[in-house]
Amino acid sequence: MTQPTFDPSSIESILHEERHFNPPSDFVDRMGSVYVSSLSDYEKIYNRSISDPQAFWTEIAEQLHWYRPWDRVLEWSPPDAKWFVGGQTNICDNCVDRQVRNGHGDETAIIWEGEPVDNGGPEIRRLTYADLQRETARLGNALKKLGVRKGDVVTIYMGMVPELAIAMLACARIGAAHSVIFGGFSSQAIADRVTDADSRVIITGDGAWRRGKIVPLKDNVDQACETLAAGNRDVDAVVVLKRCENAINWQDGRDHWYHELTAAADEDCPPEAMDSEDVLFLLYTSGSTGKPKGIVHTTGGYMVFTYITARYVFNLHPGRDQVYWCTADCGWVTGHSYIVYGVLPNRVPSLMYEGAPNFPAEDRFWDIVERHRVTQFYTAPTAIRAFMKWGAEHAEKHDLSSLKVLGTVGEPINPEAWMWYHRVIGGERCPIVDTWWQTETGGHMITPLPGATPTTPGSCTLPFFGIDAAVVNEKGEEQPANTGGLLVIRKPWPGMLRGIHGDRERFLETYWRRVENMYCAGDGAKRDEHGYFWIMGRIDDVINVSGHRLGTMEVESALVSHPAVVEAAVVGVPHEIKGTGIAAFVTLESHAEPSADLREQLRDHVAREIGAIAKPDQIRLTDALPKTRSGKIMRRLLRDVAAGTDTEQDVTTLEDLTVLAKLRESEEE
Ligand code: PRX
Repeated sequence: MTQPTFDPSSIESILHEERHFNPPSDFVDRMGSVYVSSLSDYEKIYNRSISDPQAFWTEIAEQLHWYRPWDRVLEWSPPDAKWFVGGQTNICDNCVDRQVRNGHGDETAIIWEGEPVDNGGPEIRRLTYADLQRETARLGNALKKLGVRKGDVVTIYMGMVPELAIAMLACARIGAAHSVIFGGFSSQAIADRVTDADSRVIITGDGAWRRGKIVPLKDNVDQACETLAAGNRDVDAVVVLKRCENAINWQDGRDHWYHELTAAADEDCPPEAMDSEDVLFLLYTSGSTGKPKGIVHTTGGYMVFTYITARYVFNLHPGRDQVYWCTADCGWVTGHSYIVYGVLPNRVPSLMYEGAPNFPAEDRFWDIVERHRVTQFYTAPTAIRAFMKWGAEHAEKHDLSSLKVLGTVGEPINPEAWMWYHRVIGGERCPIVDTWWQTETGGHMITPLPGATPTTPGSCTLPFFGIDAAVVNEKGEEQPANTGGLLVIRKPWPGMLRGIHGDRERFLETYWRRVENMYCAGDGAKRDEHGYFWIMGRIDDVINVSGHRLGTMEVESALVSHPAVVEAAVVGVPHEIKGTGIAAFVTLESHAEPSADLREQLRDHVAREIGAIAKPDQIRLTDALPKTRSGKIMRRLLRDVAAGTDTEQDVTTLEDLTVLAKLRESEEE
């Protein structure tokens, strides 16, 4: 695979944002206590973390429990890093058992709110650390009974219920790696990931509630199992949580009810002592080829990194009546790191909500904030844009005065949405932490600290401690201020990915070859005259739809697998709510008749192949795609056509000039 050539000067910032917001002067009073309370403190700690990373990370790691101390903090042989080498620990122990041992067993660890609402209100469950200890032990023992051993991969495909967090923690407890698949993905996506991970046990539910409807999780798993069986792969066991009580098919011998297995299981299941570099989980994410990649994270470094980033970035303080809510799904990395693994060791209750933000009405999130007196709230720009569209009145109906820190993640936030969040949700008194990071980085990399960093709408500001982030050209030279370039990380950090499951070459090619010995994130960025980072978006064929990564090739392969399609090209197009939407240009087989019905069929086909998030917003049926004389599809041209803007591209290499005019006519009616 060759890297597309990249001209850093092609990234230009069109933003000239002059608004600055200092941390509110009463922030320390409101919080009771703040870990880092001035920019100069941040700078002091940052400089030390870079000049003596070993001392810095040792101090943090010592705050957690290890069965055996490490011999060396870091072994770095680019691009391979090992952290806390020789140390043994267990992340479930640190999230759960450690809190019980320290006398906090009856404090709330997880607050959960279900989606359905009846006259008595929504269903609410509170799980203490002691509950989590018992439940993870039971499920851990049940999994062992099903034959799961240390190092095996367990697939988890569930709705946002406490048992999803319990399943993740139970795997970690017994030393099995988990691979969580977002509940919105299709059966094909499950089958692909189960195959790649060579996983033999799946934990799922009968269904999941989403906007008042049932997502048929078990049916999807059944179909995935059929696909797997056709490829001679067996799934040994499917564990099914009863949630929606919808009718499901049952295969004796393979399928087991979650409640029956756990009721029969012993409560004694000591956490396994894991080597720091043992795999904790795989999490699949899109890249620029059609095949999702299984990002590998290991135990010790990831644990230390998520613990400390969650603590400092959200200012989590145990014992101060804080309630932290991240609205992500555990199927994404945000849910892994900032609903479960980074939050529980900090002993602040983590709120989980099962359903949609507009069910039963557009004020659901604010209803939840008011009911549970949420103090830290973490969501995505796409959600904020939807709230803006629905109107401020939904938030204004509720008392949001408990909120103290607001966070955002997943894509660049447009200054208009930032200001709305600041004014309407934060009442102009809550710092906004715009956190830049990735599935691969494990945790926050560039982000404000709420009591220390002045913020400016649209910038994720400054690197977290220990993170040597820079904007460089292809030779690795730092770009001058306000000049676009590649976002890289020049030194290893504890939460970094350790590889792509089963594909060393792709790992090297994707992240390490572009700029020698630097981690290349795949984002374009610039730094301004204050050293603040501005993320300008992906530089590969990955588009960011509602804060979720999708490879354009993945969607193209899905389209081409439809019998009516010859060729497809997919590009991103600006979208009011999603940030980027999907436009697909499709050429049909001669027997296929273009029609609105066919377009709908193609959309459904993509949803079946990948999941509803990949459904194209526009499908344009066309006789031909614009190609260069050497046969390459001219994607930039397609982006202009999809966005409805006049093209400023040089079209002299276009093979057939009439194609362009026809494409413009192909707009969906
Ligand atoms: O392009 C960046 C964007 O999301 C990508 C990572 O996606 P994913 O691995 O799915 O993880 C999302 C949640 C961490 C990045 O390469 N991105 C993420 N956060 C931001 C962002 N872009 C701008 N600002 C952010 N705060």
